[in-house]
Amino acid sequence: MIQLQVPATSANLGAGFDALGLALQYYNYVSMEESDQIEISSSDGTPIPTDEKNLIYISAKDLFEVCGKKLTGLKLIQTNQIPMTRGLGSSSACIVAGLVGANTLLGNPLGTDDLVDLAAQIEGHPDNTAPALLGGIVTAVFDGRRVHWVKQEVYTKLRFVAMIPDFELKTEKARACLPSEVSHKDAVYNLSRAALFSASLLTGKFENLRTATHDKLHQPYRMALIPRAREVFDIAYAHGAYAVYISGAGPTLMAIVDEENTYFAGKMRFSLDNAGMKGWQVHDLKIDNTGCVLL
Ligand code: HSE
Repeated sequence: MIQLQVPATSANLGAGFDALGLALQYYNYVSMEESDQIEISSSDGTPIPTDEKNLIYISAKDLFEVCGKKLTGLKLIQTNQIPMTRGLGSSSACIVAGLVGANTLLGNPLGTDDLVDLAAQIEGHPDNTAPALLGGIVTAVFDGRRVHWVKQEVYTKLRFVAMIPDFELKTEKARACLPSEVSHKDAVYNLSRAALFSASLLTGKFENLRTATHDKLHQPYRMALIPRAREVFDIAYAHGAYAVYISGAGPTLMAIVDEENTYFAGKMRFSLDNAGMKGWQVHDLKIDNTGCVLL
């Protein structure tokens, strides 16, 4: 039986809608072996599909088909830390686990580029799948078939503090609220900030991150779907965050914090409790530079 570790991811990073994402040291684990039937279970009681609708199974089956093989069944044991439908890449983690696991079972017929492409084809965009597979911060363009990408390892003194609400927000709903067209002015607003984000992160110009995470393509629309989000942004900035943004499609809000701001997560916890938001989780995370690995 093979065992995989797949990281959570935070996509968009503010202005880089469907283009930027990074991996975090917060993991799901999957044990996988070929079987003549489908046997899927959770080691931690997380409710997961245990039939052919399971996303790890679907992705593994896709890879087998691409390689001209038939998958008769799979034994899967999932251990899930990444909360589902919260904007931390839980579905991308399943897709990547299914693809990397199946590729391993077949003796690695597909290379990294093929896996990046296949993962984006299944998910529809590459900004969670690519960093889940590769680690680091990934800049990616999906042309509908192939992903043109750059992975950069990040060794900064930054921490990413995830404020995770106690309600779900499905990506389909969070995408359905977006406008189908934007103005030329808003396009320039976003592309300049997305470019500024990765350059500033990688060169240590952290004072740019607040401006770089502002956007006009998705966050203004999604804020309405996340009750009290504006308040959490304000509290995080009051506690010294460099930047705050909606992680992926939300509802998780992510604060980028200097590691010398030692008590940020504790202060957020205290402030959220005092504001009656005890149900929100606060996770203090670092960037993962390795992506999906076999253990
Ligand atoms: N870029 C995607 C979105 C990430 O914001 O909808 C969520 O899958």
